[in-house]
Amino acid sequence: MPQSDQQQTLVLIKPDALKNSLTGYVLSYLSEFHTALRFAGVKIVHVTRMLAEEHYAEHRGKLFYPSLIEYIMGTIHYPQTPERRRVIAIVYQGPDAVQKIRDIAGPTNPLVARDTKPGCIRALGTLAPIRDEKGITIGERMDNLIHASANTADAEREIKLWFKPHDIPTPMHPYATAPCEEHYYFGAGKLTTTYSGGSICILAPGNVAWKSDLDALKLIAGGGKKAHSSLEAVIAKYLVNEDKEHL
Ligand code: RTP
Ligand code: MG
Repeated sequence: MPQSDQQQTLVLIKPDALKNSLTGYVLSYLSEFHTALRFAGVKIVHVTRMLAEEHYAEHRGKLFYPSLIEYIMGTIHYPQTPERRRVIAIVYQGPDAVQKIRDIAGPTNPLVARDTKPGCIRALGTLAPIRDEKGITIGERMDNLIHASANTADAEREIKLWFKPHDIPTPMHPYATAPCEEHYYFGAGKLTTTYSGGSICILAPGNVAWKSDLDALKLIAGGGKKAHSSLEAVIAKYLVNEDKEHL
């Protein structure tokens, strides 16, 4: 666990913020001048269904979950233009990073944000109706511009979900890493240590990975004890932006 003055947190600039050209506004609010936080990692991500479902796993089964997945994948804001679907994923580092950014983001519901915390980022968000297949409104989706990790445990899970160690400068690595000692392949929904037609190599000997990912892969490949992470939570980051979504 990083020292609290070197705490890290994950921010996602969501598709509604990108569509409304609010990226600069968000980045200004979160700038080092205002927050004393520094960039540790930044990437543009075309969000796969696997990544979206892992990111929001805690909401699986809720009424708004299917709509939330489409929202973060960008299909709602860019229905006809898949090439525009992306989020900006940022790791911020510095004193009290998690709580500082949650405070600046504001309440989850944009209407509550506007009423109770004018000036917070999510006060510029909107509510959108969720409709069933007959067009009847069954709920609402909160398009609230940014995601911010809720606590340090979520930050660790989310940073490891979205970022490989090499996406973050080595001196800023927040969590333990280790060199991989095996080949790991993924194909047809399964992990293997030997190549079979159509599978792709996720990690090779010598590649540096999050140590917790390597521990999980070893258990999953061994088929024995249950791993602490699902296979999808480990490999999703290795499939984004790689044109391998058919896997
Ligand atoms: P986030 O994870 O995106 O930073 O948001 P959060 O912690 O403030 O809120 P969370 O409860 O984790 O919800 C995740 C996202 O799901 C949508 N949501 N809709 N209709 C609803 O009742 C509802 N509740 C949550 C929002 O888009 C929220 O950001
Ligand atoms: Mg949340």
